[in-house]
Amino acid sequence: MNTDPTPETLRTAMVKALREDGTIRTERIAEVMGRVPREPFAPEARPADAYDPENAVVTKRDKDGLAISSVSAPRIQAFMLEQAGPRPGENVLEIGSGGMFAAYLSELVAPKGAVTTVDIDPEVTGRARRLLEEAGYEKVRVVTADGAFGLPEHAPFDLIAVTVGAPDIPPAWREQLAPGGRIVVPLRVRGLMRSIVLVPEGDHLVSTGYELCGFVPMQGSEENRERLVLLHDAPGEEVGLRLDDGDHVDAEALRAALTSPRQEVWSGVTVGGEEPIDDLDLWLATALDGHARLTATPAARDKGLVASASPLGVATLVVGGTLAYRTVRPIDETLTRFELGAYGHGSAAAAATARLVHEIQVWDKEYRGGPGARFDVHVAGTPDDRLPTGRVVDKPHTRITISWPGKP
Ligand SMILES: C[S@@+](CC[C@H](N)C(=O)[O-])C[C@H]1O[C@@H](n2cnc3c(N)ncnc32)[C@H](O)[C@@H]1O
Repeated sequence: MNTDPTPETLRTAMVKALREDGTIRTERIAEVMGRVPREPFAPEARPADAYDPENAVVTKRDKDGLAISSVSAPRIQAFMLEQAGPRPGENVLEIGSGGMFAAYLSELVAPKGAVTTVDIDPEVTGRARRLLEEAGYEKVRVVTADGAFGLPEHAPFDLIAVTVGAPDIPPAWREQLAPGGRIVVPLRVRGLMRSIVLVPEGDHLVSTGYELCGFVPMQGSEENRERLVLLHDAPGEEVGLRLDDGDHVDAEALRAALTSPRQEVWSGVTVGGEEPIDDLDLWLATALDGHARLTATPAARDKGLVASASPLGVATLVVGGTLAYRTVRPIDETLTRFELGAYGHGSAAAAATARLVHEIQVWDKEYRGGPGARFDVHVAGTPDDRLPTGRVVDKPHTRITISWPGKP
């Protein structure tokens, strides 16, 4: 006898979990995600995997095995729908097609709204078109094109929902927004990706909220990946720095520094084992001038080369031939709370670790639990005196300012 849960049971459990942890807050979104089947859009996955809130179903990889197309995880789709707030009658552009998210959007803008989904990869659009038609969403327009240019023939859009990791905001997205429109975009700034809601304010865009997210990287005219500089390259024991937004480091000097004795400073700031500290990382990326992300394999950590084995990297301050990275240590034997601190290598390690720890303390005092950061997106070439106060990150098309309003 088959005792596998039915798709209906899995769907109900998925929505329950996403409501209970606060991801889904809107009744219409709960209703649509509780009604629309996911398994037709992920036929390659077991139903339990298609409904696992945390699981993305990878549908295509590049020659190096990197995922380049997927049906995003239910949690990501749920918070992006909450961020986007699609309303009946709206004209929506989705950039990056999997079929599933377009089906949800189509339900939420029905009966009079329109959804167009664009993907750069004809294999992806072929698949999405077929699956959408089979599931009864033949009204969704599926177009093969580079989404960086939007789709002027179907603009203006009330909502542009980008479902691929974007390193910048191309001008077409802003130009093709209808009055009162919004862009939801997984934007990578200083090596950190956040799904940001952007709305026009005067001559620029401002954020109204953001969520931590991970997405496959954008291809085509806007392709602009992070760079990895290896500091230790023994096979299996690699240690590296991920660099973004044109940042450079003195790799030779840092390789030598890594072999020098380690310095440490502790902050007195503690966090729970399950507590997310992604806003601390965003604060450090805002506050520190020389910012990178230190990555290492578990074997490199076990060998004692570095104390962290994060594939995505931990916040790191780089000053010439010195680096200092964020770390934690348990404060009791139950391993439920940890103190934040910094480890450093290189001739200026004392100053660099102290600086990093100072910024951890500033975050704790001024911003922890507060409203978070604000992103202002101005076009490239905007003079400094027309930008708000904050960390300015220069991109090919834009100048992005990250500022922190602080706790009320
Ligand atoms: C995470 S998938 C999209 C998931 C989808 N929205 C869903 O229903 O879950 C990201 C897609 O973005 C596409 N993509 C990458 N660069 C693009 C570009 N410049 N324009 C349009 N699509 C792009 C990839 O081919 C991939 O299929």
